[in-house]
Amino acid sequence: IRDFKVENEPLLSYLPGSKERQELEAALKTHAAQTEECPIIIGGKEYRTDDVRYQVMPHDHQKKVAKFYHATPELVKKAIATSMEAKKEWERVPIGDRMELFLKVSDQMANEHRAQLNATTMLGQAKTIIQAEIDAAAELVDFYRFNCYFGKELLKYQPISESPDTTLNLMRYRSLEGFVASISPFNFTAIAGNLAYTPAIMGNGVVWKPSDTAVLSNYQILKIFRDAGFPDGVVNFVPADGPVFGKAVTGSRDLAAINFTGSVPTFQWLWKAVGQNLSQYTGFPKLIGECGGKNYHFVHPSAEVESVVSSSIRSAFEYQGQKCSACSRMYVPESLWPQVKEGLLETRKSLKMGSVTDFDSFMSAVIDRNSFDRCHSYIEHAKAGPNTTVLGGGKCDDSVGFFVEPTIVQTTSTKDKIFAEEIFGPILTAYVYKDTDVKSMLQTVMEDTPYALTGAVYSQDETFAKEATETLKGSAGNFYMNDKSTGSVVGQQPFGGAKLSGTNDKAGGPHYMLKWASPQSVKQTF
Ligand code: SER
Repeated sequence: IRDFKVENEPLLSYLPGSKERQELEAALKTHAAQTEECPIIIGGKEYRTDDVRYQVMPHDHQKKVAKFYHATPELVKKAIATSMEAKKEWERVPIGDRMELFLKVSDQMANEHRAQLNATTMLGQAKTIIQAEIDAAAELVDFYRFNCYFGKELLKYQPISESPDTTLNLMRYRSLEGFVASISPFNFTAIAGNLAYTPAIMGNGVVWKPSDTAVLSNYQILKIFRDAGFPDGVVNFVPADGPVFGKAVTGSRDLAAINFTGSVPTFQWLWKAVGQNLSQYTGFPKLIGECGGKNYHFVHPSAEVESVVSSSIRSAFEYQGQKCSACSRMYVPESLWPQVKEGLLETRKSLKMGSVTDFDSFMSAVIDRNSFDRCHSYIEHAKAGPNTTVLGGGKCDDSVGFFVEPTIVQTTSTKDKIFAEEIFGPILTAYVYKDTDVKSMLQTVMEDTPYALTGAVYSQDETFAKEATETLKGSAGNFYMNDKSTGSVVGQQPFGGAKLSGTNDKAGGPHYMLKWASPQSVKQTF
C-alpha cells in the first residue's frame, strides 16, 4: 500500500454566480423535474417487483423524486448469495488496490458528482444546501478517505518477532466469514454510504437496505461506484420492507455482521432475531449499531449566554432536529434563564423555514408523515400537559410539505416524556434549575434518559468544567465543552454512543476498520 495522508474535504460557499452554485442549480432543476427510477441492483443486474414505491420531496410531498421497488424475500436471499460469490474474487484484490478505488471514487464524488449528490440529498431528504454540503459532499468522502487511511495504519501493525532468524510473527487482516447486512438511515447520505461501502474496503460483500426516504441519493452512490469500476455484486442495493429484509438476513447461516443505524426497537429486534437463530450460524454475527439519542446542552451559571443561545438553536433546529446528535433537552440555571429564554425566542423568530431550493432557508420539512405526526403529537402533549408550556412555535402544517415550526418548550419536570423520549424533530425542551443545585443536576443529566449519544456543557468555570467532564463520562459518546452537540467531523471527533444509543463503534475513528476485519495471527518457525 502506498503511503498517503488525508484531510477533511473543505466546504464550498455556493455564492450566487459561483461555479458550484450554477452546477447545483442545474442538478436541482433536473432532479426536481423527474422521477428517477431506482431498481433493485443485485450482481449488477436490475430487478423490479410488483411492490412499487415512491420517494417524495418532504417539502413538497406531491412531487415524486424516485420510483423504487421493495424486494421479495427471494431477492434478498439472491443478494446474499451474490455478495458471497462476488466476495471470493474481491477479497483477493490486494487491499492497496481496493483502497485506490475508494480514493478515486472519493475524488469523483467531491468533484464531478458533488452537485448530483447534494441535489438528490436536498430534494429527497429535505436538506438545505449547507446541511447537504456537510453531509453528501464532505462527510461522505471523508468517511472513505479516512477509513482507507486508518485501514492502512492498521495494516502497518506487525508483531515483533522474538527471534527474527527462526521465528516470524505476522498479522493478516482477512475479511469476515460471511456477508455484511447494512441497514442505513435517511438522515445522512454520508452514513448510508459509510454503512454500505466501508466494509468492502476490507474485502467484505454487502447486502444493503437503504432507507425508503433516502433511495434517490443512495442510488447515486451506487451508480458512482459502479461507473468507477467497482465490481458488481460486492455491494447489492436492496430496498425492502424492514421485517422482510431483517428476517432474510438474520435467517441466513452466512450472516457475518449487521451494520445498522436507526431506531432502538429495530436494533433490538435484530439482536433478538440473531439470538433466536444463533445455533444455525457458521459463526457469531457482529452487531454494530448506532441508535437514538436524547442529547443535552447543560448550562452552568458561568456560561456565555450568546454562545449558549446560538449553538442551542443550531443544534436543535438545523436539519429540523433530525440529526442523531441534535440537542433536544437543555438544563438552564434560574439566574441565566431570562436571557437564554429571550435569546432563544428572538432567534427562533428569525429562522426561515421553507423550500430547500430557496438558498436562504435555514430549515425545511421533516422527512415524512410519520415524523410529522410524531412531532405534532409531542407538541399537543406539551400544550396540554401539566408540566409543560410551549414558549414559541408549535404550528404544524402539512398542506404542501411536512413543516413543523421550530418549537421551544419549558418543562418543570425532567421526567416528562418530552424531556426523556427521542422525538427526532425540531422540538427543544428546557428545564430551569436552581443555581444552588448545579452539582446535583449533573447526576440528573445522567439519569433522565436511557441514551448516551451526544451532550454539551457550557461553562467558563474551569473547575466545574473538569468536574462535569468526569461526572458526565457515561452520558455521551460524543461530549463537547462550550460547543454544540452536533457537527462531529470524521477523523476529528469519531462518532457513536453507548447505552441505548448503540454499540459505540465510532464511525470515522481509527479503530472502525477493525470491525470489518478478521485478523489472523501467523507464527512461522523455520
Ligand atoms: N456528524 C453528525 C453530527 O455529529 C452525525 O453523523 O451531527
